[in-house]
Amino acid sequence: MLVRAKINGQACQADVWPGTSLLAMLRDHLGLMGSKNACEQGECGSCSVWLDGELVCACLVLAAQVDGGDVRTVEALARGDRLHPVQEAFIEAGAVQCGFCTPGLVVAVADLLQRHPSPGEETIREALAGNLCRCTGYAKIIDAVRLAGARMRPT
Ligand code: FES
Ligand code: FES
Repeated sequence: MLVRAKINGQACQADVWPGTSLLAMLRDHLGLMGSKNACEQGECGSCSVWLDGELVCACLVLAAQVDGGDVRTVEALARGDRLHPVQEAFIEAGAVQCGFCTPGLVVAVADLLQRHPSPGEETIREALAGNLCRCTGYAKIIDAVRLAGARMRPT
């Protein structure tokens, strides 16, 4: 079946098997490898993307469901060579180790900071509860959220 959608601002189409997930469409059909496949069960958040402005696990959404929709992935965050402030903050705070969880966390943090420019620790932990990291212990991720929030807030 043919799926047509706006992906990161561009009109795209992919010819997929009806059971194909949005994650597989992004990675295998459109070459967008930023969203990671770590569990394929909606448990880890590594595949987080925006669908029509809502954060979703791309492994749990059928490609067919995004027909006519608007998808934004982690690839939409950097501007050319210029990283998004959340991406910079993850690097500076040492919140990246193996990096497998990082794209999903970066998307989830960008989403959080759009809604809550100055989140407290409880809000941060709640917002990131669906994003699992096996490496960092989360303290540095929370440091990165605070650093990015401080830089993104209007002065
Ligand atoms: S790969 Fe989608 S939630 Fe883990
Ligand atoms: S940095 Fe390795 S899973 Fe998070």
